[in-house]
Amino acid sequence: MAYPREFMDELIARSDIVSVVSRYVSLTRRGSGNLGLCPFHNEKTPSFNVSSDKQFFHCFGCGVGGDVISFVMKIENIEFPDAVAKLAEWAGMEVPQSTYGEGERNKRKRAQEACRDAARFFHERLKADAGAEARKYLLGRGLSPATITRFGLGFSPDSWSELLDSLTSRGYSKTELLEAGLVTTGKAGRIYDRFRGRAMFPIIDVRGTVIGFGGRIMGDGEPKYLNSPESAVFNKRKNLYALNLAKTSKADYMLLAEGYMDVIALHQAGFDSAVASLGTSLTEEQAHLISKYKSRVVISYDSDKAGRAATERAIDILSRSGLDVRVLVMTGAKDPDEYIKKFGRDKFAKLIDAALPAAEYRLGAVKQEFDLSDDKQRVIYLKSAVAQLAKLSSTIEREIYAGRIAEETGVSRDAIIQEAVRERKRLIREKKREEEKRILDPVGAIMPKDREARYKNPRSAVAEEGLITLAAGDVRLALRAAERISGKMFSSELLGRVFDVCITRARSGLETDMSVFSEGFSEDETAHIAAVFARNSELSADALADLMDIVRGESIKSEADTSDAALLAAAEFYRKKKGVGNT
Ligand code: GTP
Ligand code: MN
Repeated sequence: MAYPREFMDELIARSDIVSVVSRYVSLTRRGSGNLGLCPFHNEKTPSFNVSSDKQFFHCFGCGVGGDVISFVMKIENIEFPDAVAKLAEWAGMEVPQSTYGEGERNKRKRAQEACRDAARFFHERLKADAGAEARKYLLGRGLSPATITRFGLGFSPDSWSELLDSLTSRGYSKTELLEAGLVTTGKAGRIYDRFRGRAMFPIIDVRGTVIGFGGRIMGDGEPKYLNSPESAVFNKRKNLYALNLAKTSKADYMLLAEGYMDVIALHQAGFDSAVASLGTSLTEEQAHLISKYKSRVVISYDSDKAGRAATERAIDILSRSGLDVRVLVMTGAKDPDEYIKKFGRDKFAKLIDAALPAAEYRLGAVKQEFDLSDDKQRVIYLKSAVAQLAKLSSTIEREIYAGRIAEETGVSRDAIIQEAVRERKRLIREKKREEEKRILDPVGAIMPKDREARYKNPRSAVAEEGLITLAAGDVRLALRAAERISGKMFSSELLGRVFDVCITRARSGLETDMSVFSEGFSEDETAHIAAVFARNSELSADALADLMDIVRGESIKSEADTSDAALLAAAEFYRKKKGVGNT
């Protein structure tokens, strides 16, 4: 932990998760918990649980979960120290200075400063004599000098150490530059500039801090774009290129493009709400980030096959964040940058106005696959179109699109609507069945997301889950369990560790809540622990003895199994040594 223990203890004690979550989500009491609509995915029936007893949140719908600090980190899209600062402010506490936490923060700050100074270095090099070729490249791609300045574009000299030398002479250590992702270590431990001979695009977070770079090769070659590595300052999944500019745009939508160059060309043409994900496909976090600023998003990806596939994915992710999703359809150019160069900004503005609601776009995509003058193909098209209609929850939307499909195919509108309604009912039944199956298939439902942590012995794991829930919530039960059970007997290493923590605390007379796991447990692990607590919240203390029997029994069985395996391995070893049966 990065802060003094007493400070964290008090902060957590003063930050009740129910009141913190209530700042963002309207909760209603239900049983021993509180229930609301999950702020991390789009839902109509509440499955977001917040426990005041155990101080956790968990969504049965999308699986997010954790303690009060991780809730603030997630919902505000901020890092640990910033979440601590926010909670401290609400709790009326002062964040202690000059601690190890300060050291961590300083490290990040140094890396950010190194990035900022690197951005200045690259920008200056672009303007210097050595940057002539890069200037020619960027101007040749239609960027104005004002745009180049606005985006802080630069040039990384084709040298192994110009940046390294410049920044070390300014007092940065090699470690700091490595942490900032500006230099790389070679085979013999030699350290050299990561970006060489590239046009540089600084990546700036929403607060205006330089956190990384994309560097484009000026001509052909691989890789076309080289990006900063993931680091303490640069998190690709949680940032969007140009969001720092787009967030103040007056447009009532965010324009989502694929590449750096597209975003810059769009801004230059006056579409100042353009952003792009950073060399990865769009993430849930980025969708959530967009939804913090705008309620509508217009996807403007490349018009090629890859772009269309990415669009399909993005529609799902963005819709889940509750955004009104539109898709811009572009022909005659491969991306927005090229389109604007070829046809001008006004034409592109028209494309934005004409962007299709996601449902309509999908129907159009289906239609393109078929030749409607052919009877057989028309039938298949109708089936696919009806399947898309069935996914729409709005009756009005369904009727409108059914009317269009009727015109295209010559089949009556009523017949199409009827089919769609029937298909929709089937979908709902299927979903319900799956839900039931999930409930009846506890093993499938309880498996940790993280592959490493998957339960090897589900029968034991179910009992282990119950045990830790009881042990966390009741000191007497914990001490009773400790008489016969230890974490080593657990089939799940994670649950065993949790159990041991509960027992240690119980021996000091303390119950265990979620905040205890913010130290020494990963994000995935704490989310899983929250899920365990949530689904076992109604477990009765009477179950304790049975649960202990199961865990003990399974543990003895598995010991027998491993000793069998050890015997077999030993036998094999001796047989090989003697050359018996070894041909
Ligand atoms: P230009 O060719 O300069 O117009 O690129 P673009 O902005 O049109 O980007 P493109 O559609 O080729 O790629 C979209 C985005 O994917 C880029 O902006 C980069 O973020 C990322 N990208 C492209 N090529 C590479 C690559 O070789 N490596 C990595 N890591 N990312 C890439
Ligand atoms: Mn391009």
